[in-house]
Amino acid sequence: MPGEIVTTVMIRPEEFSRRRQRLMAEVGEHSMVVLAAAPERPRNGDTFYPYRQDSDFLYLTGFNEPEAMLVLLPGREAGEQILFCRERDPDRERWDGPRLGLDGAREQLGFDDAFPITDLDDILPGLMEGCSRLHHLVGKDAGLDQRIIGWRNRLRAESKGEKGPGEIVSLEHLLHEQRLIKSRDERRCMARAARISADAMTRAMQVCKRGMNEAELTAELFHEYQRHGCPPAYLPIVAGGTNALVLHYIANNQPLPDDGLVLIDAGCEFEGYAADISRTFPVNGRFSAPQREIYNIVLAAQYAAIDEVRPGRPFQAFHDAAVRVLVEGLVELGLLPGDVDTNIEQGLFRRFYMHKTGHWLGLDVHDVGDYRIDEQSRVLEKNMVLTVEPGLYIGDDDDIPAHFRNIGIRIEDDVRVTEGEPEVLTERVVKAPDDIEQVMRG
Ligand code: GLY
Ligand code: MN
Ligand code: MN
Repeated sequence: MPGEIVTTVMIRPEEFSRRRQRLMAEVGEHSMVVLAAAPERPRNGDTFYPYRQDSDFLYLTGFNEPEAMLVLLPGREAGEQILFCRERDPDRERWDGPRLGLDGAREQLGFDDAFPITDLDDILPGLMEGCSRLHHLVGKDAGLDQRIIGWRNRLRAESKGEKGPGEIVSLEHLLHEQRLIKSRDERRCMARAARISADAMTRAMQVCKRGMNEAELTAELFHEYQRHGCPPAYLPIVAGGTNALVLHYIANNQPLPDDGLVLIDAGCEFEGYAADISRTFPVNGRFSAPQREIYNIVLAAQYAAIDEVRPGRPFQAFHDAAVRVLVEGLVELGLLPGDVDTNIEQGLFRRFYMHKTGHWLGLDVHDVGDYRIDEQSRVLEKNMVLTVEPGLYIGDDDDIPAHFRNIGIRIEDDVRVTEGEPEVLTERVVKAPDDIEQVMRG
């Protein structure tokens, strides 16, 4: 199988520090930033759901443990960047594995200071003293919202109302705008996630044959992710035949139809960065003529859309380009009545294409960042990364010619905005019908 195993860390500690510096420059002096790690989620007994750090917290710290709090205090002479985290504890570490601890946070993650998380209530009100504004993710965690108010009120009471932040403002916008533009280290992680995810998709194509179950293809994806130490970025969709018409199908446990298609939408994450790929291919290795006709419409729509992923173009443009090509194809096949413009203006195509053509991609598969600014579709900039994923989902209504019924197709790639041609991060996995058939022949 292709793809060497990479275990090195791609994001350097200086980068996390640089991200914190940038955020501090944005919020300015006399402000503070407070951000919590994701909690562990118990499933039952002493079994937990797989731990996944909060993406905002991971972005600013590179710290992958629960029970931690980041505090940034721009301009504070005694130290601007503080981490509260769990202390080393040999007894607990014997059961749960190593902890970075306070020294590790200072030495390996570049924090000016680190304190035990158990001291948070004692220390945090004091850190608020010189601050007039506190930024955090207001409304994300009601418990933390209350604790912050409590810390502030305590400081206020102790100082007769003289100290403590008068304003509590949401951090979301500043932080998420920063995450939207991908740095060099981030691009390397995303390229790696894309490569492993593409190889996993190729593997599924190679092993697919009549008589298999969706679950077996799902296992092939996971095999490729896991051997690189990568978790899935989201629950994969492995949908044979009509299951592809269920947009969020995740059961992945049904027999594949001998002469039908299978739609796979799957990607892994590398150092937290997601890939998100969809391919649709014939279970038996050969597209039928009607399957190929519909497939080629989606493929043409995807190429047209990718061509719009350029700096200066509005985000909306690649969706509009995809819709136009899809509608042209559907009108030509007689699946939509009337002319192209009317179908677009009246939204009649939504019967067969009911989702948008893409989304931001990064630490989250549907990544953060505004899509509209001042009620206008925002303009694409270099080093934004997004998915381009047109599809067609044709049910079995009486007015559909029998040979086009029950076909669900989506083709999805991850694309970076560059100064030149759009960079398709996931192009390793084939998508032209002849190429798919060739890969499936082996
Ligand atoms: N895999 C989720 C999506 O394509 O948006
Ligand atoms: Mn997807
Ligand atoms: Mn997607």
